[in-house]
Amino acid sequence: MTRSWSSSGLDLHLDLGTTGKRRAGLEAALRAAIQDGRLPAGTLLPSTRGLAQDLGLSRGTVTAAYDQLTEEGFLITRRGAGTTVAGHTSPASESEPPSPDVPRPRHDLRPGRPDLTTFPTSAWLAATRRVLTGARPEVFAAGDPQGRLELRQALADYLGRTRGAVATPDRIVITSGYYQGVRLLSSVLAAAGTTTAAVEDPGHNIFRGAVQRGGITTTPLPVDEQGARVDLIPSNADAVFLTPSHQYPTGVPLHPARRQAVCAWARTTGGVIVEDDYDGEFRYERQPVGALQGMSPDHVVYCGTASKTLGPALRLAWMVLPRHLVPDVVQAKQDADLYTETLSQLVLADLIARHTYDRHIRSARLRYRRRRALLLDRAAAVPGLTTLGVPAGLHALLLLPRNGPTEPEALARCAANGVALRGLSELHHNPQDQPGGLLVGFAAPSEPDYLPALEALLTALHP
Ligand SMILES: Cc1ncc(COP(=O)(O)O)c(C=O)c1O
Repeated sequence: MTRSWSSSGLDLHLDLGTTGKRRAGLEAALRAAIQDGRLPAGTLLPSTRGLAQDLGLSRGTVTAAYDQLTEEGFLITRRGAGTTVAGHTSPASESEPPSPDVPRPRHDLRPGRPDLTTFPTSAWLAATRRVLTGARPEVFAAGDPQGRLELRQALADYLGRTRGAVATPDRIVITSGYYQGVRLLSSVLAAAGTTTAAVEDPGHNIFRGAVQRGGITTTPLPVDEQGARVDLIPSNADAVFLTPSHQYPTGVPLHPARRQAVCAWARTTGGVIVEDDYDGEFRYERQPVGALQGMSPDHVVYCGTASKTLGPALRLAWMVLPRHLVPDVVQAKQDADLYTETLSQLVLADLIARHTYDRHIRSARLRYRRRRALLLDRAAAVPGLTTLGVPAGLHALLLLPRNGPTEPEALARCAANGVALRGLSELHHNPQDQPGGLLVGFAAPSEPDYLPALEALLTALHP
């Protein structure tokens, strides 16, 4: 007998050897499993009766083996509590490298992160219970590459109502994050002949990389105080990637005339506009600018995500596509990973349909609005520091005083004060480009951590 399995409640894989000495074989197998760390300290072993049954041994053999290992200090046997593996230092754990000492930032002001302490855990649990209670077995079946119909239906209603998007379930595709959406879309557009896409400069470097990995060459599209310079889309570009409602990272919305202009460009050239509406829900003063997609649904791919409203861990995002792109994007999704995990899609659909999602966003909006106002108020006291962008989103861009610290100096000072944030330079296509600045994510800290984080930031920036 070389290998045996126990299934007496606990599964245990043991190599009993071929010596024929059953007790010695069992002892050696248990000892080896404990020493090399496969049975870590605290592991509850099967009962002697259960293990004997599973291995085809007499109960006395197993009891004797447990007794022997207890005596040797490998096991602990307590009446009524069973037999567990004793604490010891295994060769495996001795040889493990020490874990790298990565200091967590004391003050987390990294942009693009919501306050995760306000994740609606109770609502999520209640919705999960609703989804699973009396669930049809079909809930656990393989998913649809396009995404669960329940979520696509809920999103179609929600996006029409809150973002003015023209959305029907049949033109929505659920992806694992916007990142995957960009990858899929880029590969579909590349296969259809797109070689070049214009992407905002500055813009998010990770998504620019995703377009390139999809097989498309990117060309920088300058951004000014009215948003992307859509008049500069080069003639060889068949697609443009934009953040129209709140340009990332400058925070300016695309000017209405430019919205019209870029839609006209798409209509006349047949080009595709990809609208990243990453934080479109967070507008603090006026009515949110509607989705660009609502103006030209046959030319704009609308992309939304739950990463800012709930949390990036969910990997839930959606695209509303011009109809002609739907089959190829669904095929690309299927080729990539078959479908996005389905239970959380159903939970999100439930929260949207019951308007719990709206309520969660409304309360986050109030909190972030207050935090942004506080940041601007305090920043105004630092001579020469200016803030760019409209009251919206999860971050603000601070432009540094002309005769003050450079961006690397400011970042170093912040780091020394325990403040984690991001520099603007790394989002320029050419990192040497100016201006430099600081992206301050006012949403990231928990409520009690926000003020101390703000104080630490402004102390670091004071001349
Ligand atoms: C500009 C921008 N777009 C979109 C996203 C959302 O990405 P994902 O849905 O992959 O988390 C982010 C998140 O960091 C972002 O910063």
